[in-house]
Formats: sequence, structure tokens, C-alpha cells
Amino acid sequence: MSVTNTWQTQPQEVFALGPIVPVLVIEHIEDAVPIAKALIAGGINVLEVTLRTENALDVIREIATHIPSAMVGAGTVTNISLYHQAVDAGAKFVISPGLTKDLLVAAKESTVPLIPGIATISELMTGIDAGYDHFKFFPAEAIGGTKAIKSIAGPFPDITFCPTGGINVDNMGNYLSLNNVACIGGSWLVPSDAVANKDWQRITDITKAAVAAANS
Ligand code: 3PG
Repeated sequence: MSVTNTWQTQPQEVFALGPIVPVLVIEHIEDAVPIAKALIAGGINVLEVTLRTENALDVIREIATHIPSAMVGAGTVTNISLYHQAVDAGAKFVISPGLTKDLLVAAKESTVPLIPGIATISELMTGIDAGYDHFKFFPAEAIGGTKAIKSIAGPFPDITFCPTGGINVDNMGNYLSLNNVACIGGSWLVPSDAVANKDWQRITDITKAAVAAANS
């Protein structure tokens, strides 16, 4: 199913680039490309840069400019203004922790796809009403985790999720084994002390271990 014919990339293509989506909180612009390269060297194909830091939009711009092949998107996009700014910065997809009707409607006019977040069935139904069928499930561990996602497959068998929130190398396999989960997201691949020490190799090592575990 296609939400709109204006999107150049479809959410299912973004999800298919997983199964691990690093959720990135990058403070310094000069760290952007080294972090992205370290993750890509570890086997990551898709990057979510959250708009939680002052420089986040420039971080997206930096990665999109210097690594044009990278599938870099914006996370923590909570309103239409941020959506447009993320697209202007070069984001190839947009993820929101939740959804508003305004965001669901405005995203359909964009060339860049929206992956809205849901935490309740009613939010899911609002998203489905607007034509969406790929969602972030957040904050996954706090709202029922795999049990909740498994239960949702009953009434909503055609919906696909990317759960995030409390997911790491130890529990990601439980999520990835579910038929309605295409990928998972998490921040654990990029520890803040590794960034502070510019220990890019450690990020690659953590990533390689996670990718190997996801494929095992
Ligand atoms: C997100 O926005 O997806 C979460 O902040 C990621 O959660 P985590 O830090 O528990 O991985």
C-alpha cells in the first residue's frame, strides 16, 4: 500500500534497510560523519538522527552532503515546521515519536515519507485512517514490548512496526522474531563515552556484534 504518490521513498524500503536503526543523538557537527562512517562500517544501512540537539539539522546536512549514499533520516520530528526543516536539511525519511493529524496530513504533501509513532490502539487507528501502515512503536519496552506488538497483529494483521525504546542487543531478537516487526531502533550502538573519546572503532565493534546477532 502507498500512503501518497508524492513520496520518493516508501516506508517499507526504509524498514527493509534494517533490521537495526541506530537512534542518534549527536551534539557536535564534527562527530557526524565519523559516527555515520563507523556505523556503516559495522553493517548499518540506515541512520536516524534525532532532532534533540541544537546542531541536529546541521548533523543531517553534514551526513547527507558527505555520505550521499547514506539513508539518513530525522527522528523526534514532532511538528510540521520541524518536518520541513528536516527535509530541507536532506533527511530522506522522517520519524515521529507520536502522531498528530496535522503531521499525518502535511506529510502526504512532502516528497519524504513519514513514519509516525504510536503507543495506543486509538493512535494506530488514527494513523490507519490517514492511510498509513508502517509505524514506530514507542516507547516499546515501557508499553508492553513484544507481548503488546504480538497482540496488535490480531486485529491489525497488515500493520508493520519498528519498535524503539529500551531495545538493545539482548532483547532485540525477541522483537525481530515477530511477523509484524520489520526492524528495531535503539541508541545503544553509539555510547556517549565512545563519542567523547572519539573511539569510532568501538562503535563499529558494537555495531558488528549487533548486526551479527540480528542475522543469527
Ligand atoms: C527513540 O527515540 O526511539 C528512543 O529514544 C530510543 O530509545 P533507547 O534510547 O531506549 O534506545
